Amino acid sequence: MKRGPSSGYLGMLLLGLVAALQVTSGLEIVTIEGPGVVKNGSVPQLVLDCKYDITEYDKTGLVVKWYFNRQPFPVYQWIPTNEPQDLGLLKGRLNLDYTVSEEEYTKHRALAILRPTTELTGEYTCSISSFESEDLKRKSLIIYAPPVDMSMTYSKPSEDSVVVSCRAGGIYPEPNIAIFRSTTASRRRDVIEGAKIDRQHFPEMGYYNISIDLEVFDYELDSETMFQCVLTIPGTEYKLNEEILYFPVSEGQLLQVYSLTISSLLLIVLYHYWQH
Ligand SMILES: *[C@@H]1O[C@H](CO)[C@@H](O)[C@H](O)[C@H]1NC(C)=O
Ligand SMILES: *[C@@H]1O[C@H](CO)[C@@H](O)[C@H](O)[C@H]1NC(C)=O
Repeated sequence: MKRGPSSGYLGMLLLGLVAALQVTSGLEIVTIEGPGVVKNGSVPQLVLDCKYDITEYDKTGLVVKWYFNRQPFPVYQWIPTNEPQDLGLLKGRLNLDYTVSEEEYTKHRALAILRPTTELTGEYTCSISSFESEDLKRKSLIIYAPPVDMSMTYSKPSEDSVVVSCRAGGIYPEPNIAIFRSTTASRRRDVIEGAKIDRQHFPEMGYYNISIDLEVFDYELDSETMFQCVLTIPGTEYKLNEEILYFPVSEGQLLQVYSLTISSLLLIVLYHYWQH
């Protein structure tokens, strides 16, 4: 096939473009591979792999660094062909023998965190640089702690209302809590407004406690109400439910209660009267 002059020019143009791209792109981080959400104390080792493309030029002066929460000092540094170093927050918390491959200029690019716990929750930045160019990418990691306990109760501050309470503790990071209700007739869940939420942070313990109180009048409820307390941890799929079944005092029952009280009072009065 005879190629026309125009296709020849096009081919040269494309080649030129590709060459230009290769020269200007230099070091590039493709992605940071690894989990985004992990349960506290659930894995022996967590790997965040900073995958980069490297050209021959970039091998001179290559430095791989990891930073935590955009702080100015690195928590890990590796200069091929030296040994990697753990620093700051990650000092003593890494598996420095971990390698992603046998390749001299990539093998120690990953962070291998041993037994990750909640305080390592944050944003990790991988930064690579050479004499020619540099690049960085970020990834957030949540190491969550589910509640150690959760309980739901109700009390009756008055004859015709109920306070539904729910509490949970030992949670990280800051959780959310809500109370829903459903009747046995319709499984539709309604979130109830006007609840009082109390969050407590214990920084030295590294966890949050949370509680919710909700007061409702019996007349607002159907004959049989299922209250459901739902605890969630933002940024994770974690969810925990507790349920409680409540039978509001119906008007008929209220009348009975009143008449009982009145009859007892009457009896007491009569008794006193009879005594004197
Ligand atoms: C996270 O796990 C560590 C080690 O298992 C434990 O000491 C710590 O109390 C846990 N943190 C929370 C908030 O549960
Ligand atoms: C916080 O929650 C934990 C776990 O339920 C509990 O042991 C602790 O007493 C709570 N602290 C306060 C001040 O309520």
